Parts: sequence; structure tokens; C-alpha cells
Amino acid sequence: MAVINVDAQSCKPYDVVILGASCFTGKYVVREALKFLNAPNSPLKSLALAGRSPSRLSEALKWAGGPKHAQKIPLLCADTSDPDSLARLASQARIVLNCVGPFRLHGQPVVAACVESGCDYLDICGETEFMERMEASYHDEAAENGSLVVSACGFDTVPAEMGMLFHSSHWIGPSAPSRVEAYLSLESEKRIGANYGTYESAVLGLANAHKLAELRRSSPRRPRPKGFVIEQQKELGLWALRLPSADSSVIRRTQAAFTENPRGLAGEKESIEHAKMRESFWSSVKPAHFSLKIGSKSLLGLLPVITLSVFLGPLSRSRVGRWLLLKFPSLFSLGLFSKKWPSEEEVASATFKMWFVGQGYSDSSVALNPDTQVVTRLMGPEIGYLTTPIVLLQCALVLLDDRDNLPKGGVYTPGTVFGPTDLMQRLRENGISFDFISWKPLSS
Ligand SMILES: NC(=O)c1ccc[n+]([C@@H]2O[C@H](COP(=O)([O-])OP(=O)(O)OC[C@H]3O[C@@H](n4cnc5c(N)ncnc54)[C@H](OP(=O)(O)O)[C@@H]3O)[C@@H](O)[C@H]2O)c1
Repeated sequence: MAVINVDAQSCKPYDVVILGASCFTGKYVVREALKFLNAPNSPLKSLALAGRSPSRLSEALKWAGGPKHAQKIPLLCADTSDPDSLARLASQARIVLNCVGPFRLHGQPVVAACVESGCDYLDICGETEFMERMEASYHDEAAENGSLVVSACGFDTVPAEMGMLFHSSHWIGPSAPSRVEAYLSLESEKRIGANYGTYESAVLGLANAHKLAELRRSSPRRPRPKGFVIEQQKELGLWALRLPSADSSVIRRTQAAFTENPRGLAGEKESIEHAKMRESFWSSVKPAHFSLKIGSKSLLGLLPVITLSVFLGPLSRSRVGRWLLLKFPSLFSLGLFSKKWPSEEEVASATFKMWFVGQGYSDSSVALNPDTQVVTRLMGPEIGYLTTPIVLLQCALVLLDDRDNLPKGGVYTPGTVFGPTDLMQRLRENGISFDFISWKPLSS
């Protein structure tokens, strides 16, 4: 096992390397990164793009920034099936932003290379089993080598994590939430779906659900909701259905880390002010049960999700079923996923709202039943290709700006690492709003 001198990280030629820059999401990440490259007050001074094909990387760069960047941004060859190429990549980067999915197929060698070289790693994964497997396999080595590994730094799962922390801050004094239901509503003037990469990751995730169960076998089983129950949320005017995304499991991991470390995780060279701020931040956080639902103004709007839920489970279990699912994404999701990428216009026309409806106690030391409701809301642009790059880039900029105040290394959730930083403020400045909506007593 190599022990890395953390100061060596500052001598690396690239602050950030985007791996998978030529993929559909990757090119939007490149576009977002170029906004901050050498911009006033930006810590991002050097950037390289990496992937299998220099010509596809070059096309992505041209799409993202026009010809003016063509000569200035180095293109590095890296293939997730070639460990030497990944070792070379990690040795040149302070942070690798990994966009190559499905992560269950491609992610592990990238994490291994970053941990080995002691560089930081962020990705846009939404695959629960991959994230928990990386934590189980690499946490100790990453902690020793000074490599911060944080998955799910995209729409999965930062809006839910930061949204929960924001929501928690509105339960003041002795009040405390017991459960928070989040309702995600996707809005667009045009009909918009997601690219095939996300669909493939979801199909393979379900096909391998037994591996997640195996991984968790050592911990006690918790009851989980079965089937799909449609709820009418009258206050929000939404019909809603539970969304089996990674958000709930990542929030549970953040809350577990918080229980183990009630003052949060100290940075290796943390300033006294930051340590005080971190401790005060975590002392005000009130954990609660979290679940996420997808909502729509009409029952008909939920039809694509219902159709996909009906087919995904049974078909993903057999080889032929998986072949059918992957061959005809549009058919099984009524156009929600497609091999035909959403156009720039479709992406630009979409937005999201995520409502957090929390119920709990006005005074948690005396109340027997929940007697209070608090509603907060996040809003932002299209989730997969606008919000995800914004979130990923802002997480990277926090690392570049504030590295000494963050844990030396380890495999963590976004909330654990970025909760007490200025990430929320940065997201606000980049188009994602966090709003308090209402507080009201509940009638018993
Ligand atoms: N967190 C979120 O909310 C969020 C949002 C969007 C996407 N995602 C995730 O991001 C991932 C990418 O999605 P996408 O739709 O952008 O996928 P995509 O367009 O299908 O791209 C996949 C990319 O993987 C690259 N790749 C495949 N095999 C490789 C290898 N052996 N070595 C290096 N690169 C390799 C391909 O590179 P080439 O160009 O060389 O073919 C391709 O660019 C998915 O897992 C998706 O779930 C997450």
C-alpha cells in the first residue's frame, strides 16, 4: 500500500481532470467547468479532459467551449479497463471528476487508482450498491493516503442531502422533525427524457439488487415499502409515487456518520474558526426518516414511471429481460428514457422542484404525537445535464478552495463532507434555490 505525501497533491499539473468528458453528461460537465477555469476568484486554474478517444474528447470540448479552448485544454487517454492509464491519470490530477457509467461496470478501477495515488475523487453515480461497496473496500486506504472519495455529487444525491440539511435548520429550539417526505416534480415546456446511460445504470442496478442485499447482510434488515402506492398530496397539488433512487440510502449513511461523529469530521489542517463553525453546524442538525417520491400534477403524468416500475423489476432479473429492457428503453418507459439524446433545447426548457414536507414535534421532549409541519423547497434547472454539472463543479471548487478544512481522506457521502461547507451558498449563486415555504401546527 502506497503512503502518499498530501503536499505532493499541490504539485500536480491539473487541478481537475474530467474522466468521461465525451459522454452525454460529461460534455455538459466540461461546459460548466469552462465557466470557472481561470475566472476571477476561481480556484480552478488548470483542467484536462480524459477518455478513450481523443477525437471524441476534442468534439466534446468544441461543443462545450467553441474552438477557442481547442489548443489550451490537454486531452488525456484513459480507459477504465487499463489500470496503467488510470494510474497515470490520477498521478496528474488533484481531483478526478468521474462521469463514466454505469459505475458498477467502470467505477471501481477509477476509485482504486485515485485512492492509490492519493488524489480526490468525485462522481455523479446514483448506484447504491457501487457506493456502499466502494466505502467497504476503500475507506481505510483512502483515509491513510489522503484521498477523499465522494460519490453521488450530482442530482443524485446532493439536492436531497443539502435539502434535508436546509429543512432541518427550520426546526428551531426544542422542535424536531420525525419524518420528511420529499416530492420531486419535473417540469418542462417540451417533452423531455433522460439519456440511455442513466437508464442502463438503473437496469443494471436492479438486476444486481441481490448484491446490495449480500453487502448489507451483516446489518439488521429494515422493513421497506413494497410495490407502488400512489399518493395524492393535496397541499402540493401532486400525485406521487415512491422513487427508488439512491437518495434515501445516502441520507441514511450521512445520518449514521453524524451519529458516530456528532461534531462532524475534523480537517487535517483545519482552522480554529472552521472547527467552531463545523461543530456549531452539526450541533443544529436534527436527523429524521427521509423518503423521496416522484410527483406529477396529473395521474397521467406518472404513467411513464408506473410503466417502467411494472417492467423493470421482473424483466431485469433474466438475461433475455435485460436484453429487451436495454434494447427498447423508450418502449418500457413510455419515452422517459431514450437512446436518442435530449436536445439542448429540451434540456434548457426543463426545471425541477423538490418539496420537503416534514412532520414532527413542536417540543420533542414532551410531545407524544407529531404536532407540527414544516415545508421547504429546492428549485433548479433540468436535473441530469444542468443541475448535475452545477453540483459536481461546485463540489470540486469547494475541495480546491477549502481542502485543509476537510477530512484528510476516506470514502464519504456528500452530506458528510460538504454539509458544513459553503456548498449551499455556492449552489444558490449558480441557479439552485433553497426556500422556506411554511410552518403550521397539525390538528390531532
Ligand atoms: N447523478 C445524476 O443525477 C446523474 C445525471 C446524469 C448522468 N448520471 C450518470 O452518469 C453516467 C453517464 O451517463 P451518460 O448518459 O452521460 O452516459 P453515456 O453518454 O452513455 O456515456 C458513457 C461514457 O462512458 C464512456 N466509457 C465507456 N466505456 C469506457 C471505458 N472502458 N473507459 C473509459 N470510458 C468509457 C464512453 O466513452 P467514449 O466516448 O469513449 O465512448 C461514454 O462517453 C451514468 O452512470 C448515469 O447514470 C448521473
